[in-house]
Amino acid sequence: MEDDRPMARRPLIAANWKMHKGPAATREFLDAFLAGTGGEGKGPESVICPPFTSLGEAVSACEGGPVRVAAQNMHFEQEGAYTGEVSAAMLVELGVDGVILGHSERRQHFGETDEALARKLVAATGAGLLPILCVGETEQERRSNETEAVLSRQVLTDLAELHDDDLGELVIAYEPIWAIGTGLTASVEQAADAAATIRDLVRTRSEQAADRVRILYGGSVKPDNAAELLAPEEIDGALVGGASLSVDDFRAILAAAPSS
Ligand code: PGA
Repeated sequence: MEDDRPMARRPLIAANWKMHKGPAATREFLDAFLAGTGGEGKGPESVICPPFTSLGEAVSACEGGPVRVAAQNMHFEQEGAYTGEVSAAMLVELGVDGVILGHSERRQHFGETDEALARKLVAATGAGLLPILCVGETEQERRSNETEAVLSRQVLTDLAELHDDDLGELVIAYEPIWAIGTGLTASVEQAADAAATIRDLVRTRSEQAADRVRILYGGSVKPDNAAELLAPEEIDGALVGGASLSVDDFRAILAAAPSS
């Protein structure tokens, strides 16, 4: 599909595997997926986000190719007494390119706060990782018309410690919590409106960054709804959970993205 968006924002499709696929399954997926992937082309950028223990396998499978690898979380400190945690420097040493931060499952089940995320964004950016920041409202918040307020609180707090010059490199995923893993998707209008709201929030910090920041939609993106959800000019790609576990489905979603 031809893309006529004014700014050169290359669409990005990220596969959030959550707690699925150990190293063997990761290798199996990537062997099949990479066999059908061309070189660094004009299509969307693809990023695979496996669990920590599969990152090494993913990095070695993707080495030298166009597919990038991101983690699903990290700690904001470089090192220290934080049992069970992993730092940005450790991810970089492994050859990882980026990191998902603030996924709603981490906010919900692991007490991730916006204040911690502000520090994580600085640590990730400082280490040269591409951050994919997730924001989004609950069903209850949408019903009580709080979507904009929630997005505003999350985006402004999470980005608070970042230098304005670094904001343009960010990827922000709008993921309405009620649409994640539920089979419900936001309507195209809801997704585009939220993406526009997020871009306007970035604009309050930097006009230039607002034009460059890539804003994804996430929440039950599937092969059959991807083209519609990815069509609006405001939406620069997708963060895909369930459907990214299948090579065929993930490929179909990539094929539905506008090419820059
Ligand atoms: P889903 O997950 O595509 O399975 O709804 C999206 C996400 O959680 O990033």
